[in-house]
Amino acid sequence: MKTTAVVLAAGQGTRMHSQLPKVLHPLLGRPLASYSLDAARQATGEQPVAVIGHGADQVRQALGDSAEFVLQEAQLGTAHAVQQSEALLRGVTDLVLVTAADMPLLTRQTLQKLIRTQQTHPGPVTLLASISAEARGFGRLLRDQHGQVQAVIEEAHASPEQLAIRELNAGIYCFAAEWLWQALRLIPISPKGEYYLTDVVGIAYAEGLSIQTLTTEDSTETIGVNTRVHLAEAECVLRQRVNRSWMLAGVTLIDPATTYIEAGVTIGQDTCIWPNTTLRGNTSIGDNCAIGPNTIIQDTQIGNGCRVLASVVEKAILEDGVDVGPFAHLRKGAHLAQGVHIGNFGEVKNAYLGPGTKMGHFSYVGDATIAEEVNIGAGTITCNFDGVAKHHTDIGADAFIGSDTMLVAPVKIGEGARTGAGAVVTRDVPPHTLAVGMPARAIRKLGKRD
Ligand code: UD1
Ligand code: MG
Repeated sequence: MKTTAVVLAAGQGTRMHSQLPKVLHPLLGRPLASYSLDAARQATGEQPVAVIGHGADQVRQALGDSAEFVLQEAQLGTAHAVQQSEALLRGVTDLVLVTAADMPLLTRQTLQKLIRTQQTHPGPVTLLASISAEARGFGRLLRDQHGQVQAVIEEAHASPEQLAIRELNAGIYCFAAEWLWQALRLIPISPKGEYYLTDVVGIAYAEGLSIQTLTTEDSTETIGVNTRVHLAEAECVLRQRVNRSWMLAGVTLIDPATTYIEAGVTIGQDTCIWPNTTLRGNTSIGDNCAIGPNTIIQDTQIGNGCRVLASVVEKAILEDGVDVGPFAHLRKGAHLAQGVHIGNFGEVKNAYLGPGTKMGHFSYVGDATIAEEVNIGAGTITCNFDGVAKHHTDIGADAFIGSDTMLVAPVKIGEGARTGAGAVVTRDVPPHTLAVGMPARAIRKLGKRD
């Protein structure tokens, strides 16, 4: 039996007070809507259909190939929104799972349970209910004297007695497709000028058909995001879920409350994340690492046994056994080979540092290729920019760059060469040669004792 999801994402999100469409607001590093689209795809095994309207072009572009899009030009309500998918889905799918793009915490498991309930149930619809004292503006489920669901009443239209009902409509449904398409045609326009999807419940009841409900066990799953307060609540729940799953997988989080791990990040076993650390984007961290405290890592691949203390690392690669910080800044294209040491106040950009190379104290290395076992003295700077273009610095293996050396690029330091403290190197230094001064001159060939 084929099930296809229709994810409602056309609403304006007025209460966000934002230029950005609500469904694109970032939640733990990803657009809000991407969570419901992922869950819908995983639960059905099919590409979901997203109904878009407000900011449609922007939404379509941001969500890319994660959905098939249909346009709801005027937002005339949730029933009207679902109707936009009929042309695409009629005759193609047996069941229609309707979810909302602003409900990011609903899990694949709950959606699967909803689908299974509908599959084994003779009626035309199963709806997701939640029981909570906090109504959050949800519609209330009305039941008849036999306990049968007979209607959903919207909060705006509910009487005081109806408002006291704690059984809430989560706005998530699984429908028998053919029945849904014809029921949508019977929905009248509401006093607010909208076509309410919830009216199909009353239609089924009037036809003498039974309406099945599934009640969520975890009420956080149905937190809908309508305001930025809700956005922060959802982020908090999501963060706790992500952190918990990493702890259960063998990662130590010293203080989960101040550890921010985005959804795409991976972390190896026996790695310890210290407090106040943010791991973002396409980041992977190996086994047995110590990360933080006070560290931000983004779009970076880190090997095993690395240590990053109080540092900012972006778009970098750290091979095994690399040690960074405190107070280092690794920028785009920094590639530190095995066993590299970066101490305090080091900045590396678009540069390869070979195995065992050490840069222990305040230095800037940018646009450079440095071979293995090089010592970069305190205060070394690759002067890579002449005001017009960037230039490259090359340093051979086992070179020793004296403290406060200025390497005026383009320049090459040969293998085993040395520079004296304060050297301003404007010309290439041959291998195994000592260069000193301003501008640096080669003063002698280095012997064994050097
Ligand atoms: C809806 C339900 C309510 C339920 C609540 C749960 C109706 C009439 N009411 O109310 O019973 O408790 O969800 O969150 O369905 N949308 C469109 N096009 C439209 C209108 C809405 O795509 O024309 C989308 C919105 O972007 C949103 C979803 O549908 O993702 C729900 O719409 P919203 O206006 O938030 O409905 P609620 O008033 O919350
Ligand atoms: Mg809503």
